[in-house]
Amino acid sequence: HDAVEVIIAKRDGHELTDSQIDWVIDAYTRGEVADEQMSALAMAILLNGMEMREIARWTAAMIASGERMDFSSLSRPTSDKHSTGGVGDKITLPLAPLVAACGVAVPQLSGRGLGHTGGTLDKLESIPGWRATLSNAEMLAQLEEVGAVICAAGDGLAPADKKLYALRDVTGTVEAIPLIASSIMSKKIAEGTGSLVLDVKVGTGAFMKDEDQARELASTMVALGTDAGVHTVALLTDMSTPLGLTAGNAIEVAESVEVLAGGGPADVVELTVALAREMLAGAGVTDLDPAEVLASGRAMDTWRTMVRAQGGDPDAALPEARESHVVAAPASGTLTRLDAMAVGLAAWRLGAGRARKEDPVQAGAGVVWHARPGDTVTEGQPLFTLLTDEPARFDRALVSLEGGYEVGDDTSYAAAPLVIDR
Ligand code: URA
Repeated sequence: HDAVEVIIAKRDGHELTDSQIDWVIDAYTRGEVADEQMSALAMAILLNGMEMREIARWTAAMIASGERMDFSSLSRPTSDKHSTGGVGDKITLPLAPLVAACGVAVPQLSGRGLGHTGGTLDKLESIPGWRATLSNAEMLAQLEEVGAVICAAGDGLAPADKKLYALRDVTGTVEAIPLIASSIMSKKIAEGTGSLVLDVKVGTGAFMKDEDQARELASTMVALGTDAGVHTVALLTDMSTPLGLTAGNAIEVAESVEVLAGGGPADVVELTVALAREMLAGAGVTDLDPAEVLASGRAMDTWRTMVRAQGGDPDAALPEARESHVVAAPASGTLTRLDAMAVGLAAWRLGAGRARKEDPVQAGAGVVWHARPGDTVTEGQPLFTLLTDEPARFDRALVSLEGGYEVGDDTSYAAAPLVIDR
């Protein structure tokens, strides 16, 4: 094969053969297929799509580009969760220790934030001492002893995806369902989890703004997982409103700890418990109610052990932003809309997120909102608190928030369901 032949085949709307796919992924990983050739192929895939057979082969080839982890030596079953990303989505933090406290090991490989969506590792790194990088041996030992680990994926896992994702990011080819599905699933299958729950977000703050597209992404990923022998379920969940009451890093850790202590915002608790139920069922545990385990405080114990195992101090004070700015409610009435994208952009501009992969994030930065859609507010009461170390950032964050919320007199406001479908 050569790259031009493969590009032309997809450009002209043909299905790629297994051997073309295997070759192009391997040759790209080795550097024999150039970035500009892979860019052209990614664009042809974005425009012309792929059949399920091609997506499955593409995924298998990306898995084969690196190592596969193996958790079969563990004394308990494994389950993992992947969220396609949203605003205020701190669910992994309470979820991993909750599921572990129910006897299922959670090998949660997580990422950093890019753009308006936050990253689990950025949030956890606000805990003094906590480290994201573990060797495979450390990860395995922690899974056996603690039951939960949240860490960065090692360089050996699906290296073809690492290269390709960076390339897609700068060539306008992120938004292709075959490429997103194979990217996510190659990492999750290579990670070696026995079961997987996908939280596919839909709404303004999500990758997929459109429900039909979110459904297609969900069913493609479920098919890939099932095909590879991983018990896979997807929930379609709302991301038109941000989750909980915080978007940032340290402030999301604090909110997660509230949930583990039996409090916290109702929507965060609801989604944590719904995903825990699916993860437990996928791992064959059906006799425990995660809501009860959360209330019992056992998930908090596991959280503390998990944080300590990775060098963190669960009792240390979390970093706080140096500056804050309060936005007051413009009128009295009901908060009828709070837009996830507006809040995500504001948090990002305050310094909670990064524009380029190399950028640092501020641990204390972010947005706290003091009401959720449906809540009654009084004119002049604090509606948002903006947090940053650099006050020059307030102006741009305020511009992002503008038009992102509405206070009206519609007292019959009813929130849309959080879990849209399974
Ligand atoms: N997350 C991934 O890991 N890959 C994608 O392509 C999109 C989101």
